[in-house]
Amino acid sequence: MKNTPINKELIDKTINEFQIVDFSKATIREVKAIAAKAEQESGVEFIKMEMGVPGLPPSSVGVQAEIAALKKGIASLYPDINGLAELKQEASNFVKAFIDVDIKPEGCVPVTGSMQGTFASFLTCSQCNPEKDTILFIDPGFPVQKQQLVVMGQKFETFDVYDYRGDKLKDKLESYLKKGNISAIIYSNPNNPSWICLKEEELKTIGELATQYDVIVLEDLAYFAMDFRKDLSQPYQPPFQPTVAHYTKNYILLISGSKAFSYAGQRIGVSCISDSLYHRGYPGLTARYGGGTFGTVFIHRILYALSSGTSHSAQYALAAMLKAACEGKYNFINEVKVYGERARKLKEIFLRHGFYLVYDNDLGEPVADGFYFTIGYPGMTSGELTKELMYYGVSAISLVTTGSKQEGLRACTSFIKDNQYELLEQRMLIFEKNHPVRQ
Ligand SMILES: Cc1ncc(COP(=O)(O)O)c(C=O)c1O
Repeated sequence: MKNTPINKELIDKTINEFQIVDFSKATIREVKAIAAKAEQESGVEFIKMEMGVPGLPPSSVGVQAEIAALKKGIASLYPDINGLAELKQEASNFVKAFIDVDIKPEGCVPVTGSMQGTFASFLTCSQCNPEKDTILFIDPGFPVQKQQLVVMGQKFETFDVYDYRGDKLKDKLESYLKKGNISAIIYSNPNNPSWICLKEEELKTIGELATQYDVIVLEDLAYFAMDFRKDLSQPYQPPFQPTVAHYTKNYILLISGSKAFSYAGQRIGVSCISDSLYHRGYPGLTARYGGGTFGTVFIHRILYALSSGTSHSAQYALAAMLKAACEGKYNFINEVKVYGERARKLKEIFLRHGFYLVYDNDLGEPVADGFYFTIGYPGMTSGELTKELMYYGVSAISLVTTGSKQEGLRACTSFIKDNQYELLEQRMLIFEKNHPVRQ
């Protein structure tokens, strides 16, 4: 291959050094490390789209509240294991204001990021009934969640929702649920990596089947209200963030401070357990712990054992951010909308140079522009495309790592700098010339 912005031998050598045989399976950290090394050795700037890290300053509402709390001396005190009362109340208000769902403060539980929220949820769900020992992923998804199950030795099953949108979802889900081994279903909405957003009718299907087969839905709202096609930023006013909570009582909503509030560094989120699930007892929990309900086991057994609560000052930060959002004083969506603008510009460049969007619609409506998007190139597998783009100084992760069965890659908009659109344009021009698509 001629004219590539980065010398091909340099990339191949670096990949070999990492002993990666199949580049389609390279993890985010591996792609990042290879891009960093190639950038350093070549002196050519990389357009980095592999990491899903917020690229914006943290919410100042949160930072100020956290500083004030630290100055008051709260760092010396263990936080209440149930969570800071103020945060629990604000989380309950927030869920009402932006999702139109009623959850009592007791069920709104601070966690050290949604990562801990899913870990604790997976554990609790897996212990409820001995026969229900498997978690079902509606993929594509966030690879680390499967890693969490591997770490705890739990089973999971997965399917790619690409071919099962709309009315095809019911039969597909039921084919798993009727076996009786599924304890919980997990998906993210908006979805990492594809940025598809499940529609109301799909959430209804999931909710109704969850009730029918008595499974718990883990609704991962890491990208809360970031479907920028709609203005979800007005408290207590429709449209609201869509949710399965309107269709079943068996749910946990996982809300993260990381993306919507650019607060990833402080590892803070809230796991909101429905009132009904919170108070429900399960045979497996009684046998293991001698009693307790889903909610009390989640908090007093599981979270207590994992981290004995969540960083005290970060809880003050999240409480302040949620409060300001509910009072209409802080439009958190406005602060992160820039991701959508970046996605729109980046997609336009890729599409003009022969790429196509892999997950491109929600039941006929084009997917939103947001934090991630997925692209493919005619005739190239996920692994080939991911590797090939490295020669052009563009790093992204293959869809293979996300449980997707489609060929393509995930691009993240969070680290894109203003000068890089022009750079991408130049590089994709060469890419297109080097890879003519047969008509
Ligand atoms: C779908 C999804 N869930 C959860 C997380 C993790 O969130 P947190 O930083 O709150 O642990 C991420 C982060 O990238 C994510 O993409």
